[in-house]
Amino acid sequence: MRPRILVLGTGGTIAGTARSRTGKAYAAGEVALETMLDAVRALGLEAELIPRTIAAIGSQDIGWTEWDALHAAIAEAEDDPSFAGIIVTHGTDTAEETAFLLDLTLPAGKPVVLVGAMRPSDAVGSDGMRNFANAVRLAGDPESAGRGVLVVMADTVFAAADVRKAATANIDAFRGYPRGPLARVTPATLDWFAPAHRIGRPARYAWPEALPRVAILTAGAGMDAKPVEALLGIGCKGLVLAGMGQGNAPRVVIEALAKAAANGVPVVRSARVDEGMVDRNVEVDDDATGLVAARALGPAKARILLMVLIANGVTDAARIQEAFDGR
Ligand code: SIN
Repeated sequence: MRPRILVLGTGGTIAGTARSRTGKAYAAGEVALETMLDAVRALGLEAELIPRTIAAIGSQDIGWTEWDALHAAIAEAEDDPSFAGIIVTHGTDTAEETAFLLDLTLPAGKPVVLVGAMRPSDAVGSDGMRNFANAVRLAGDPESAGRGVLVVMADTVFAAADVRKAATANIDAFRGYPRGPLARVTPATLDWFAPAHRIGRPARYAWPEALPRVAILTAGAGMDAKPVEALLGIGCKGLVLAGMGQGNAPRVVIEALAKAAANGVPVVRSARVDEGMVDRNVEVDDDATGLVAARALGPAKARILLMVLIANGVTDAARIQEAFDGR
C-alpha cells in the first residue's frame, strides 16, 4: 500500500519564485502548496500526499503562531493511524530552529521530515523537487521512525539536534555537528549509518502555552556591558551568549551576565565560532558565575532549548546544564 503522508507547508525558498531562470533576486513562499504537490505527484512517487498549508512565508518570519499550528498538526497526525509520516516544507534560514523545537516537544514516533531548498522553484538547477522527492522517500519509510525530527537537504539526512545552515548559498549548505549526516537518501534509496535510538520515546518536554523572550547576545572585541543591561531592560527571561572562542566575552560582559544569573535570569554561553564544544569552567568559571555551558549547541539552538526549559519551569542553572549536557 502507498504510504499516506501529511505535508505541512510553511513557505520558504522551496516555494519561492524568481520569475527568471537565472536571476538573483526572488521571493520566498509564493508557490501554493497544492501547486507544489501537483509537480511532486507528476514524478510518480509511491505515496499519497495530503497537503495542509500552515503559512506561506519566508522562515525569517516564523514564530510562535506557526510553531503552535505545526506542533498541533503533527501531534494530530501522530495519533491518526492513516498517516505513515509527516513532511514540513520550510525555509532554510531557520529550519534548524523549527526542527529542534519540534524534536524537543514531540514523541519520537512517526517520521517527521523538514525539507527546504536553496534555489527557488523556477531557477535553473533548482533543488526543491529533488529534496521534496527525498523527503517523501524518508517520510514514507518505517525505518525513519524513532529518530526524532529529521532535516533533508542535498541527498543528506540530519538529526534536528545536529543540523545547522553553514553557508548562505549553494545547495549543500547544511552540516551536522557534532554528528555528521545520519543517512544518504535519493528518491529510490535510503542508507542509514546508525540504528534508530529513540524508538517509542515520549516527548522530552511539554508543549508550552507560550515561549518566553530569550535573546542572543553576540560578543565582540571592545564591547561593554550596556547591551546586557538593554536586554534585561526589555524583559528577557533568559540570555544566550554567542561568545568568542569557547563562549567567552570581555570581563565586564561576563560580570554583567553573572549578575543577571544571580538575579534569576538564566544565561547560557555558546560560541559564535561555527563548530566545537563549549565546556564548563574552561576559560570562564561557570561554577563561580552561575553560567551554563551550551556544549554542542550553537546560539540559535541554545536559544530554542533555553526557551523550552524556561517555559517548562526549569530555571535552575544546574538543571539547565543537565539538559544541555544531554541535549
Ligand atoms: C527562508 O528561509 O524562507 C528563505 C531562505 C531559504 O528558504 O533558503
